[in-house]
Amino acid sequence: MTEPFATIFHVSDIHIGESGVTVKDLEKAINLIEETAANSPSPLLLVTGDLTTEGLREEYEGAASVLNEVSIPKVLIPGNHDERNYGSVIFEEFFGDRFKTYESEYLAIFAADSAEPDNDAGHVGRVKYNEIRDFFNQAKNKVKVFALHHHLIAVPHTGREHNVVEDAGDVLGVLNNSGCSLVLNGHRHVPWMWQLGEMVLYNTGTLLSRRVRGAMTQLHTEISISEDQVRFILRYKDGSERLFTQSRLRI
Ligand SMILES: [Fe+2]
Ligand SMILES: [Fe+2]
Repeated sequence: MTEPFATIFHVSDIHIGESGVTVKDLEKAINLIEETAANSPSPLLLVTGDLTTEGLREEYEGAASVLNEVSIPKVLIPGNHDERNYGSVIFEEFFGDRFKTYESEYLAIFAADSAEPDNDAGHVGRVKYNEIRDFFNQAKNKVKVFALHHHLIAVPHTGREHNVVEDAGDVLGVLNNSGCSLVLNGHRHVPWMWQLGEMVLYNTGTLLSRRVRGAMTQLHTEISISEDQVRFILRYKDGSERLFTQSRLRI
């Protein structure tokens, strides 16, 4: 394996506001990420939604008090829980646009808000397809990453699906034809990877929610990217870690 050149700390489904989930827990998790990031190439924090549980101001305030103090570059987008009670407006107040792009020497990330007010189903929308294509086309030799909250392909062992992205087929088509290398999302609260053609799709687990499934526990994922490989390292709430899986990556 060649030397890694970029690291994405993928956090999702924090769920501040859920009983037992505290701002202190979030602070601890972010401190751990900052410590690891100090020895990682080009670190970035990516948060793929469900920062809150009901999209309420007090929940946003708790999340923002930690996430807006992070010392490494960050990209945050909302999830379905954040848009409950019209929380999208409060998201924008604390974290800026609900759609974001980020570029470094090595990465080009298009992060989309796949949530809608008071609707748990996911949706990207036709109006965004050309924007996604144009962004990835100009990114040339960078690793092209598409981030969203909802999953584009169902995840095993997570129950019956009622809320995948409604235009998942079209979004997958746009991403595949635009040279997208990596799709990153949360929402199902357990880690899982699918390989689809030349794309790798990764669903990270929940950072703090008690709603983990089966034998899983709370975690975030360290995604280590090198020229010929992407590695997904699970970092659990108790500080332990394990290599989940790895794959080739098109660049
Ligand atoms: Fe969630
Ligand atoms: Fe969700």
